[in-house]
Amino acid sequence: KQKLVIAPSVLSLDYARVSEQLADLNKTRAEWMHFDVMDGHFVPNLTFGPDILKGFKKAVDMVMDVHIMVSDPKFYAPIFIKAGADIVTFHYEAVASIKECVALCRTIHSLGAKAGVSVRPKTPIDEILPYLHEMDVFLIMSVEPGFGGQSFMEDQLDKVRKLRSYIDAHELNVRIEIDGGINAKTAKQAIEAGCDTLVAGSYVFKQDVHEAVESLLCLA
Ligand code: DX5
Ligand code: ZN
Repeated sequence: KQKLVIAPSVLSLDYARVSEQLADLNKTRAEWMHFDVMDGHFVPNLTFGPDILKGFKKAVDMVMDVHIMVSDPKFYAPIFIKAGADIVTFHYEAVASIKECVALCRTIHSLGAKAGVSVRPKTPIDEILPYLHEMDVFLIMSVEPGFGGQSFMEDQLDKVRKLRSYIDAHELNVRIEIDGGINAKTAKQAIEAGCDTLVAGSYVFKQDVHEAVESLLCLA
């Protein structure tokens, strides 16, 4: 069984006191920083560019988990790897075919990063399952991507269960990450369904960061 990883989403930082909050985050047992890139096109919101990633990476000692919600992932993946991404997760809806999806995973690997694939709540995963061995992470969106603070879509746990049984049956080394509406209650459901990596934005940053991370880790 994979150990539980917590990936606080810096989309929910208080931008008036970023350095203070990054310092707090760095003292927790959260291993990954979840960094949401939005292009105002794939999703109706805009966030961070590569220079912000470079700065955040300097401020913490964490795995930089970069979730690119962009229409042109082929263009942006190398840019964020150059800026310090350890993992780049792109959206299946943003590539034309499973063939392109696999090709982009291979490009990401060739540039020295880990590759993740994500799906919106309405996107089925069946045609991706046979190619899971090409990926390091599969990210299930449990809200419509674009904004923090939305409520958890429990029906997305069906996909998590399907992934868990496929990964276990084929003995693959792929993490199942979930993103959107995670709190102590929904985290428990997600872990029971088979997730081993939890993104949490508002839950972590709207209270004491250390306590929030501990409250998720103790569910494992
Ligand atoms: C939403 C982003 C999430 C977001 C989650 O599109 O991908 O990472 O930060 O925020 P919460 O945990 O508040 O739902
Ligand atoms: Zn995200």
